[in-house]
Amino acid sequence: MKECVIIFDTTLRDGEQSPGASMNTGEKMRLATQLENLGVDVLEAGFPAASEGDFEAVSQIAGKLKHTEVAALARTTKSDIDCAWKAIEHAAKPRIHTFIATSDIHMDYKLNMSRDEVVKAAVEAVKYAKSFTDNVEFSAEDGSRSDRDFLCRIFEAAIEAGATTVNLPDTVGYAIPQEFGDLVRYIMTHTSNIHKAVLSVHCHNDLGLATANTIAAISAGARQAEVTINGIGERAGNTSLEEVVMALHTRPNFLPVTTHIKTNHIYPVSRQVSMITGIMVQPNKAIVGANAFAHEAGIHQDGMLKNPMTYEIMKPETIGLSENKLVLGKHSGRHALRAHLKDLGYDLSDEELKIVFSKFKELADKKKIVVDEDLEVIVTEGVLRTAEVFSLEYLNVISGTTVLPMASVKMKVNGRLVQGARYGNGPIDATFNTIADLTGEKAELLRFSIAALTGGTDAQGEVTVRLRENGLIALGRGADPDIITASAKAYLNGLNRLEYLKAHPIKSMETL
Ligand code: KIV
Ligand code: ZN
Repeated sequence: MKECVIIFDTTLRDGEQSPGASMNTGEKMRLATQLENLGVDVLEAGFPAASEGDFEAVSQIAGKLKHTEVAALARTTKSDIDCAWKAIEHAAKPRIHTFIATSDIHMDYKLNMSRDEVVKAAVEAVKYAKSFTDNVEFSAEDGSRSDRDFLCRIFEAAIEAGATTVNLPDTVGYAIPQEFGDLVRYIMTHTSNIHKAVLSVHCHNDLGLATANTIAAISAGARQAEVTINGIGERAGNTSLEEVVMALHTRPNFLPVTTHIKTNHIYPVSRQVSMITGIMVQPNKAIVGANAFAHEAGIHQDGMLKNPMTYEIMKPETIGLSENKLVLGKHSGRHALRAHLKDLGYDLSDEELKIVFSKFKELADKKKIVVDEDLEVIVTEGVLRTAEVFSLEYLNVISGTTVLPMASVKMKVNGRLVQGARYGNGPIDATFNTIADLTGEKAELLRFSIAALTGGTDAQGEVTVRLRENGLIALGRGADPDIITASAKAYLNGLNRLEYLKAHPIKSMETL
């Protein structure tokens, strides 16, 4: 039987560091459950010392997952490790993940520490973490730009101190596949006790090479890949889970390992991450992009009809993308809805189903058929977005070629009903002006985009906004058959996310 590579998912930690992608605890809990069902071996739930919100989310996830290891990140300080352990001590399978930078540039300019001091800090941290759990991971931050022999030295010392996994990050996405594979081989052959630990890799995508680097590393002997769904993460993101898993799955003769991932859960989880974070998947994104399985060119279509494998190297159903989408209409019942939502990855309570069912009926009255994309919006807006500060009650807009556009809005601000009206240079401007007035918020609108959720003129409009206030950035997303209402929902979602960020300040690693 083939060896398995450990899939370490860090969507909820490194992925959440994507600008604007903050998730609340409820959203993280739901994703954590989905990730466990997807079959990830380790889930990095957060960085508990970074904020109370992070601590709380990690702690709740640790209490929920039964099979997946729950990792908590910590710098090499005792207080970080104490905090990480406190958050995961009740987990079925806890893991402490401690890290320190090992490149000369980071040690000189950021840490102001010598090599010896960094090795000492790493060893003490691993030993301290080991006093809580046997399962300890050590990461050499900026590993790909570190001196090779120093890396081997620090990994050897960390393993000697008890680390069961040592991780080589390409923190700034600088590595080239051949170089990174060689580095892994070098570590495997020059770290005397490497056989006592799992060698892991963690790549960033600044040069678009994160997946290639991860695959090169696995070919060279790494046996843990740190990844995120849709490749979300700081700057250009992290290695994408679906790309690595499907490369291993599609080219088994070439690659020496397999994974525990249930590939048919990939697409539903990808959609959920996108719905929850508000980060759209680019259409040409490998595996989960809208065009990944679309064959437009006539010559391709002809070949596909004769034999799909002429142009298709993977079957869409392997990643859970089915052409036979269930189409629901206003006569569809609650049981059909519940069963279909389960297939999409949403296991709802009776109370949640009640809310979703009534919103589904409302939409089915406006739109003859309701498809998966519509259902995802209903679930996200109806039950995932909890504890909102601002919510829309009604919106009326006057606009056209001969009137000054005006919006009247009634909404709740912290449970209190307020209403007002404002003009604008267009219906969306009028709506946003009114909402800004009623909420008293001064957020700057950095980006606004609108797209049709599906085909057809009756499709729901899907709006995303990017807002900034006092250095905080939040994404907002909203969908509705009426695009002005969709815009209002997106704006309010962005404002709610800003409120969440204000209430749960995250300390950056540098300022901690
Ligand atoms: O990119 C990085 O170096 C990290 C470490 C904390 C593992 O995210
Ligand atoms: Zn990272």
